[in-house]
Amino acid sequence: MVIVLPFMVEIRDLTFVYDGQVKAVDNLSFNIEQGEILGLLGPNGAGKSTTVKLLMGVLKPTSGSVKVAGLEVSENLAEIRRRIGFMPQETALYHELTAQETLEYHAELYGVPKNEIDERISRMLKLAGLTDRKDDLVRTFSGGMKRRLALVRSILHDSDLLIFDEMSLGVDVQSRNLIWNRVRDMKREGRTILFCTNYMDEAEALADRLIIIDHGRIITEGTPRELKQQHVGEYLIEVMVDDFEHDEFWLSQEIGLDVDSLVVGMTGSTLITVKSDDGPKDLPRLITAMSNAGVPVKQVSMREPSLDDVFLSLTGSRLRD
Ligand SMILES: Nc1ncnc2c1ncn2[C@@H]1O[C@H](COP(=O)(O)OP(=O)(O)O)[C@@H](O)[C@H]1O
Ligand SMILES: [Mg+2]
Repeated sequence: MVIVLPFMVEIRDLTFVYDGQVKAVDNLSFNIEQGEILGLLGPNGAGKSTTVKLLMGVLKPTSGSVKVAGLEVSENLAEIRRRIGFMPQETALYHELTAQETLEYHAELYGVPKNEIDERISRMLKLAGLTDRKDDLVRTFSGGMKRRLALVRSILHDSDLLIFDEMSLGVDVQSRNLIWNRVRDMKREGRTILFCTNYMDEAEALADRLIIIDHGRIITEGTPRELKQQHVGEYLIEVMVDDFEHDEFWLSQEIGLDVDSLVVGMTGSTLITVKSDDGPKDLPRLITAMSNAGVPVKQVSMREPSLDDVFLSLTGSRLRD
């Protein structure tokens, strides 16, 4: 017998326009499978937060459809909110409550069974590393502590889908590590997770699959590894030369290089970035060929491509500027 599981999230031809003016989400379609961690990666203003607000039913689509666990969001708001754990980009905590009170309030709001509340809250405080601060006002917390509290608040009630919008925005390294580890734990528990980020390392560290968006549209999608292989290659070799008088065409015709970019620096040196599928072999060959052609290599280095290289190669600009 074949059991076909419905997608946890199904987004079809979704468009959202703010005030009849700003098209923040532009005909977006994608699915999220049960148990998958999907990362939505894109620069500021790409439309990530608007997309998750549409998923939460906070905003109503201008056109298109959003389904969670087979239910159309806009027609099942109460049910949908119960089923989703959400950490918004703006942490939205009450500064005059303690950590303990914050979680009690949320447990009440989301109908956590009375006899489970105490146990769950103390488990959440422990997960967030806040047990010894539980009776302190949120007002006295650092950015990282607030973010950790917001994270465990979102997982306090049992939900099928977790959505984290910029989970490590403005947090210190320790908090970030803690948050990442908690997200990995949730993945192991089989939860479905959607997160938005403009940090490439976060996307790389957590996502099973990535959707890169810009201007409200999908640019590409795949696993981090697939994206790099598809759009950049296995390696990037960076070559620094002085007084370079040729161009990309010459490099490709005469030296046989697959040039990714060529940047002329202020001091007269040129940085040539070359795509290579066999870096360790290509590197010595490249140096020899260049010097035989009268262009001595001043400096050379090799690295694996990053998601920023993928973004650059697809859009011509960097993810973060
Ligand atoms: N409340 C709003 N009113 C008008 N425009 C908005 C509002 N919120 C976001 N936008 C615009 O919509 C676009 C997408 O924003 P957003 O979804 O927040 O992107 P991201 O989360 O990827 O940074 C941006 O151009 C932003 O300026
Ligand atoms: Mg955002």
